[in-house]
Amino acid sequence: MKHLLSAGDLSKDEAVRILDTAATMSATQSREIKKLPALRGLTVVNLFFEDSTRTRISFEAAAKRLSADVINFAAKGSSVSKGESLKDTAQTLQAMGADAVVIRHQASGAPLRLATSGWIDAPVVNAGDGMHQHPTQALLDAFTMRRHLMPDEGTGMGLEGKRVVIVGDVLHSRVARSNVDLLHTLGAQVTLVAPPTLLPVGVHTWPCEVSYHLDATLTAVAPDAVMMLRVQRERMSAAGGGFFPSAAEYSRRYGLDAPRLAVLPDHCLIMHPGPMNRGLEISAQAADSANSTIVEQVSNGVAVRMAVLYLLLAGADSSTTERTSR
Ligand code: CP
Repeated sequence: MKHLLSAGDLSKDEAVRILDTAATMSATQSREIKKLPALRGLTVVNLFFEDSTRTRISFEAAAKRLSADVINFAAKGSSVSKGESLKDTAQTLQAMGADAVVIRHQASGAPLRLATSGWIDAPVVNAGDGMHQHPTQALLDAFTMRRHLMPDEGTGMGLEGKRVVIVGDVLHSRVARSNVDLLHTLGAQVTLVAPPTLLPVGVHTWPCEVSYHLDATLTAVAPDAVMMLRVQRERMSAAGGGFFPSAAEYSRRYGLDAPRLAVLPDHCLIMHPGPMNRGLEISAQAADSANSTIVEQVSNGVAVRMAVLYLLLAGADSSTTERTSR
């Protein structure tokens, strides 16, 4: 693995290896081990052209727990606001000795462009590009599901036979795309539920079931995990569109509320990538329920991002000597 650009690029063996490595890294989460020396002397650049709380902070924490130096770059307040291009920004980072670049960008495909342009020779990690992909989010979601749903099998496993329902604004969601790809690779059965207006063209060719009816789906599928997606009102406004269906209708037909919680199996996980619109796609009762893994997902994100950085920069597939000698 030279870069991590899309969850769809991962084979089952590669994905399981990341999850297994993250399981070993999670000891640092409980602070039993404060830091590992694995990336000492290397520099990780966090290049964020779009807002983020969880992903940016957890990549920073992950790199620091592996003893790497971290440079945080936010487009706001940088020369990007003076019109500097991605190419010139990338070459500036290369000149500063970036050993890995973590990029979030509003344009789908920006991480691929960075990885294949020849502007830099460091591994590139996609931290979310437009409506396209968010592979480390899918990995941390799978890690969380595996911990709860496959506790006896332990490492080496995917999510074989587990049933996952993903609900909401699929159209604008890089999280949904990444999760469908990865969960399918790991052997889970995925059902997407959304109003027709919030489903992308071509969704029926994805490796999952598609439904417009949440109540019927929850009853028929009896899911092991329900993942609620954020309604991305900012992308709807940017596209010049209104919010259809209306917020009230959306919440009534697609929100996870108390009556819907009551029909879920007792063990069913309640998931959300954050940030949440409480009262729209998810009620406070659901978000704060005993089965909610929403806070744990954030915490697991650090271990998963440690695993990704470790495998790209110091794993068996890459040459540590070559990178440290640059
Ligand atoms: N889940 C997620 O990507 O959150 P942030 O936008 O806060 O990074």
